Amino acid sequence: MDKSKSRVTKDGIRIYDAADHVGMHKAGQLAAEILDAMVDHVFVGQSTGEIDRIITQMVEDAGATSATIGYRGYQHASCISVNHVVCHGIPGDKRLKDGDILNIDVTVIVDGWFGDTSRMYVAGKLSRKSERLIQVTHDALMLGIEQVKPGNTFGDIGHAIQSYVESQRMSVVRDFCGHGLGQVFHAPPNVLHYGREGSGPTLEEGMFFTIEPMVNLGRPETKILADDWTAVTRDKSLSAQFEHSIGVTSDGADIFTLSPKGLFHPTYTA
Ligand code: MF3
Ligand code: CO
Ligand code: CO
Repeated sequence: MDKSKSRVTKDGIRIYDAADHVGMHKAGQLAAEILDAMVDHVFVGQSTGEIDRIITQMVEDAGATSATIGYRGYQHASCISVNHVVCHGIPGDKRLKDGDILNIDVTVIVDGWFGDTSRMYVAGKLSRKSERLIQVTHDALMLGIEQVKPGNTFGDIGHAIQSYVESQRMSVVRDFCGHGLGQVFHAPPNVLHYGREGSGPTLEEGMFFTIEPMVNLGRPETKILADDWTAVTRDKSLSAQFEHSIGVTSDGADIFTLSPKGLFHPTYTA
């Protein structure tokens, strides 16, 4: 591939060209399609390990590659984070109980391009407080995406997310952030989900990155369990997360990981 036109900003952020949006769209759509299919596989009594096996098979059937299998020693095609798990939950034998909320996060590689997305699911009956947490987290991501256009800054994205979440008396996790991606999984910049308006690097057309806010019902502090991956809320409060992979266009955002079936925001009819 001809990289002669590719450019890197002073903040180390790569600028991709119009043709690269096509590659990202393909990868993003596969990841989103897999998450769409998981709606039927989340139910009371299901194990998170079985959900991960189905995802592994879908990635293989699509002729794609999982970005997470083998990434820093991680061995699964998804992260599945239940209830007070903030992110990087490891799929396993534990079975879902009535009222559990979970985030499923999938990253695939298609023709060298990375598609990274996550969303929330519920097993059984959703409680009112979980429903509110999920709604606020989803809306926070979308408010962040509304800030994506050339001339705005990454601080504008973080500020939009933080100010909304805190206005709802919930908290934004500081210990994990979004990231640049494209032909690599994690690249500059760190996309913070909090911050001051006008701070941070300025957005330019052709930047590709994720926004993936984690929101807690209680305090924002997290800790990592002994498995070295699982991040949980210190106060055991419930946590939710949504993630899209996005490209900056001439006047806004190209969301690569939109749900083909319109299932990104869960419908609570289970
Ligand atoms: N998909 C996660 C992200 O949003 C990263 C998972 S890395 C893993 O950046 F190794 F834990 F899978
Ligand atoms: Co990500
Ligand atoms: Co992810």
